[in-house]
Amino acid sequence: MSQIATLEVNGKKYEFPILEGTENELAIDIKTLRGVTEGVTTIDAGFKNTGSCKSAITFLDGEKGILRYRGYAIEELADKADFLETSYLLIFGELPTEAELQKFHDDILEESLVDEEMKKILDGFPKSAHPMGVLSALTSALIAFNPESVNADSKEEMYSAIVKIMAKFPVLAAWTLRKKTGLPLDYGDKHLGYVQNLYKMMFNKPNDEFKINPIVLNALDKLLILHADHEQNCSTSTVRIVGSSHAGLFASISAGISALWGPLHGGANQAVIEMLEDIKNDGGDYHKYLAKAKDKSDPFRLMGFGHRVYKNFDPRAKIIQVAAEEVLADLGIVDPVLDIARGLSEEALKDEYFKSRNLYPNVDFYSGIIYRALGIPVEMFTVMFAIGRLPGWIAQWKEMRENHEPIGRPRQLYVGKTLRGFVPIEKR
Ligand code: SDX
Repeated sequence: MSQIATLEVNGKKYEFPILEGTENELAIDIKTLRGVTEGVTTIDAGFKNTGSCKSAITFLDGEKGILRYRGYAIEELADKADFLETSYLLIFGELPTEAELQKFHDDILEESLVDEEMKKILDGFPKSAHPMGVLSALTSALIAFNPESVNADSKEEMYSAIVKIMAKFPVLAAWTLRKKTGLPLDYGDKHLGYVQNLYKMMFNKPNDEFKINPIVLNALDKLLILHADHEQNCSTSTVRIVGSSHAGLFASISAGISALWGPLHGGANQAVIEMLEDIKNDGGDYHKYLAKAKDKSDPFRLMGFGHRVYKNFDPRAKIIQVAAEEVLADLGIVDPVLDIARGLSEEALKDEYFKSRNLYPNVDFYSGIIYRALGIPVEMFTVMFAIGRLPGWIAQWKEMRENHEPIGRPRQLYVGKTLRGFVPIEKR
């Protein structure tokens, strides 16, 4: 028997069902609220207390620091799965058999070439363009060369659009780096794995044979898994709401890339490294920056710290911190910003300001240190986040369409001018 929530408005009581999820979370279903109360709605800036959908993809518990994709713990997936396998799990709901994974990879390889005409769009950007802006534009431009990808009404159409974007997105992402480095575009190699191919298209020199350090490959694969989905975050909610108008998958993902770009969201991994570099160049005194982060009159925020949902350690940050230490040691890299990050984190975690607000390192705090050790330029960090988040965006968009979710259209509380008469300009 489901529980009931009672709301009293203007002396009248209204009852609403309380829904219970498979992890015993409770949600008040207010879909009848405006009707039964003749116009009363709710308001919740930033949707801090408001669920937008029921989802079976990712579960996270911010208090306990739990993150699971389709019921599998992130710690297990990061340790035992690879990124393409995890992508399949997120999108189709089950870990693939070897045959299913091979077919998925073969279907992706079949679609991994991008129309040569697309290069003209890339050529139109200045070298100084931020890769996230280029990637969002190129992803949207893909629609023009794959017009049938807008359709997702049948299982076949949906699968075809999914395979196309899984195949072409890494190519476009690699192109955004090649634009900056001035290297010719690389077509990849259909005999390589998904992440190996990405690395080849990003870094392989035309006059050199392709090779990748297994440590680098493993670290990159793990980072992509850790970024693959995170329930209804800002960019995923963007992908869902754009897709709810039945805009195509590519257009929805292009919008998600723009949302992810913001420094409060995926852009934080670039902002963290820039912050750590600033601290290093300013003598390495991170106490001064902790004071700035606590000073309400100072707009400075400790980038890579805090999270809307995690009020404990972000489980991804824990895994990435260990991986950062291992990768730098294995590659024999001494990066002074790692010491600064460690010291900053240790100090913040002891500080009342951060403790009282449950501010802990998030996924972005250490990821940039690994990306840098892997030779990835700082402006590409958020592109790496996008590559990782792609299967999550796809899975969430697919679920939204398969559940026939209504078009997203929030209400508001109007606080503007009440009715007034027009005044001719000569009388103003
Ligand atoms: C990601 O949602 C997701 O799942 C996102 C993500 C994913 O995988 O998709 O996990 C990826 O986006 C991680 C977050 C990356 N962003 C950053 O690292 C930027 C720095 N962090 C923040 O700006 C902030 O913590 C947010 C945006 C992450 C969360 O902000 P909230 O939940 O809106 O919280 P808030 O801004 O209302 O802050 C609450 C209090 C405030 O102080 P008071 O007004 O109560 O005195 O905490 C303070 C804030 O000033 N605060 C910080 C802080 N973060 C919050 N103070 C200093 N430094 C910070 N980083």
